[in-house]
Amino acid sequence: MAGTFGQSRRAVRGARVRSALDRLEAGRGENPHPAVADRFPMVIGSARGARVKDADGNRYIDMTSFFGVALAGHRNPAVMSAVRVAQGHLVSSMGDVHPDPGRAGLLQLLAGMMPAEGYRGVLSQNGADAVETALKFAAAATGRPGIVSFEGAYHGLSAGALEATWRPSFRKPFEAMLSGRAVFAPWPEPDGSNLELVLSTVERLASSPIINRFGADIGRPGALIVEPIQGRGGVRVPPPSFLSRLASICDRNGIVLITDEIYCGTWRTGTFLASEPEAVVPDIVCLGKALGGGFPISVAMMRPAVADAVLPDHGEAVHTSTFMGWPVSCAAAIATIAAIKRMEPQEAATRIERAVTAAARSWAGKFDFVRGVAGRGAMMGVSLAGTRGMSASEVTRKVVSEALSRGVLLLAEGSDSDVLALMPPLVIGDDDLGTALRIIGDSLAKVAE
Ligand SMILES: Cc1ncc(COP(=O)(O)O)c(C=O)c1O
Repeated sequence: MAGTFGQSRRAVRGARVRSALDRLEAGRGENPHPAVADRFPMVIGSARGARVKDADGNRYIDMTSFFGVALAGHRNPAVMSAVRVAQGHLVSSMGDVHPDPGRAGLLQLLAGMMPAEGYRGVLSQNGADAVETALKFAAAATGRPGIVSFEGAYHGLSAGALEATWRPSFRKPFEAMLSGRAVFAPWPEPDGSNLELVLSTVERLASSPIINRFGADIGRPGALIVEPIQGRGGVRVPPPSFLSRLASICDRNGIVLITDEIYCGTWRTGTFLASEPEAVVPDIVCLGKALGGGFPISVAMMRPAVADAVLPDHGEAVHTSTFMGWPVSCAAAIATIAAIKRMEPQEAATRIERAVTAAARSWAGKFDFVRGVAGRGAMMGVSLAGTRGMSASEVTRKVVSEALSRGVLLLAEGSDSDVLALMPPLVIGDDDLGTALRIIGDSLAKVAE
């Protein structure tokens, strides 16, 4: 379909999209999103910057960054050219035996961006891999496998990360293989109204033995893992001082503090680390998603005392994987970091936050089911309530699919899928951002009819 990105005319499901969906139906193993006849999902054809085309050429504005990945923009030109150079000489490596300069360069670069000297990194592919690394090293450093996590937390779905992920529906089918070594504290309200209660709960959990699912006493927790801003939990920003007071609790109890900045880090909120404003020095920082500019890479950056807890055995690494530090992804990550720095991320994130907040306030004035807006920078969420006989999650799903048919890609977040997540790439232009917000407003109005 010709025209500008973000269209007011309904996207037409054409032959290419229909044929891809039929083939997918025949071969898919993943659980599908509930399909909305003739509308959801689309089939992605190509993407550039903050713009996406489906396989039939319909045009969309991306307000998701594809799960947060395309913060630097889809196929950022500097990233793509670094990747072309890298794949011209090396496409696999033997990271933990024979390193290569790209991997070494990336680790040195990341170490220099941490809040203190001496951090060392273990690279991996997915966010969940970095969380696995963090939890394993924390247990090795303390001898205590227990974890303090939070209600609403999302740390990935691999076996170890799932122990610390809260949402019951993610855990339930796999409950039999979870050891129950995590305990969950409530998440504080943004206005700080229950902060003291939350912190006293954390303090109690931090100093109490954990009884796991098999009734075994596994001792006091060795790790506390926290997202500085919860992403998949519904874009929930904790009140000021929360992180720094968690850090003090960890200090007092000899607990490894892990900040999971896989979603909120790498400048999504304006600063490189979302924990930066509170000046904490986490024992481990996990990064992923946007780090590789679209290429899969993640890392757990650790302070030396934690990193040194895991030593090679007979010269062999005991925590490694075949594709760890994939050279192409390392090159992409180095270029992504440079590209985002050149974008003046603080200004870009603030510009997005201002525009989204203003639009969301006007929606809240018009539609009784728009409850409010929260977030920081390019990580914003608009929470919705049930209306006209629909539950909050049905309303949210309807807005997402209305917006899609009008040319805007959105995702629902929140433990009850009742938050519209607005996570555009930093490179989104003012025109596209304005168009996307207008279309979201039209989609809310459609739901209100
Ligand atoms: C905060 C956080 N941690 C970990 C993960 C897991 O990352 P991945 O899906 O790449 O395994 C996610 C994914 O959404 C996340 O938001």
